[in-house]
Amino acid sequence: MKKRHATAVLFVIFFLTMALQAAEAKPKYVGSKKCGGCHKSEQLAWQVSIHAKAFDLLKPGKRKKAKKRAELDPEKDYTADKKCVKCHVTGYGEKGGYKDIKSTPNMLGVGCESCHGPGSKYVILHDEKMYGFGRSEAKALGQTYGSEDESVCIKCHGDKDSPFHEKIDPKYKFDWKAALAKRKTFHPKKKKSSFAF
Ligand code: HEC
Ligand code: HEC
Ligand code: HEC
Ligand code: HEC
Repeated sequence: MKKRHATAVLFVIFFLTMALQAAEAKPKYVGSKKCGGCHKSEQLAWQVSIHAKAFDLLKPGKRKKAKKRAELDPEKDYTADKKCVKCHVTGYGEKGGYKDIKSTPNMLGVGCESCHGPGSKYVILHDEKMYGFGRSEAKALGQTYGSEDESVCIKCHGDKDSPFHEKIDPKYKFDWKAALAKRKTFHPKKKKSSFAF
């Protein structure tokens, strides 16, 4: 009887360890500042871009006309509204990602990792291999490529949950390729490697 008990306990410990390892295996959000340490020009351009400032749109008085047209209250504060926040911050509800203004101020706005994926693992790859890593290697560690995979952008630019969809105004229709070409909404104009010490 006792021996069976011990075996059961061992099994429980085994599965708990596995579960913990699985949880640890998932990459975490680390914040745009960390990327900026190596990708200075991307960070500088991003900081002043509309994606970086997207959280501000949820504040009262911002884009009044657009909000009215979408039947939102232009004087309401939407900064803590669960129906809005997920597309105006980085990694909402995910490990290391946005929780609230006070505890995760570095995750406000659409950060690097909103498009490139949670960075805790691929950052190590970038650091160790620098110019010598392949995309498949990076993808295996959680990096995403918005120019190869429309879903990276569609998770926010899909019509379903956003109040600003093409039925409100055709200008809100998302054209992936055209959007990628509007680089200044997230990056420096010229596509070049930017690694700087
Ligand atoms: C220790 C320095 C370092 C850090 C920190 C770092 N990177 Fe990199 N990263 C590099 C280097 C070096 C390259 C390869 C040269 C290049 O494309 O700039 C690179 C490449 C990239 C590329 C192009 C990869 C490809 O396959 O085309 C992206 C995108 C990128 N980094 C995003 C990020 C993001 C997002 C973060 C933060 C989560 C980050 N990096 C953090 C050094 C770093
Ligand atoms: C599914 C993701 C998503 C959700 C949820 C979401 N937004 Fe947005 N929001 C977007 C995207 C994407 C855009 C950019 C649309 C465009 O310009 O094509 C945007 C744009 C905006 C704009 C600027 C519109 C303009 O024309 O100037 C405001 C203001 C805004 N959102 C507020 C809100 C508020 C308030 C809520 C909650 C009631 C909300 N959003 C929920 C994704 C979302
Ligand atoms: C709105 C989405 C978006 C945001 C936000 C964003 N990027 Fe990118 N980035 C891209 C796309 C798309 C590419 C093209 C390669 C790909 O498909 O990932 C790219 C490419 C890059 C590259 C490769 C060189 C180049 O310029 O093409 C680096 C390095 C990079 N990003 C770093 C960053 C860093 C650092 C941040 C934050 C400071 C950031 N990105 C924020 C979408 C974004
Ligand atoms: C986490 C949510 C999120 C992701 C992911 C995201 N965006 Fe956005 N994007 C927004 C929001 C919010 C705005 C509205 C900014 C404003 O109006 O000031 C916006 C605005 C834009 C605009 C300007 C409006 C327009 O349609 O001309 C472009 C272009 C754009 N995004 C391209 C992209 C591309 C390309 C990707 C994928 C590589 C991407 N975005 C990924 C949230 C997101």
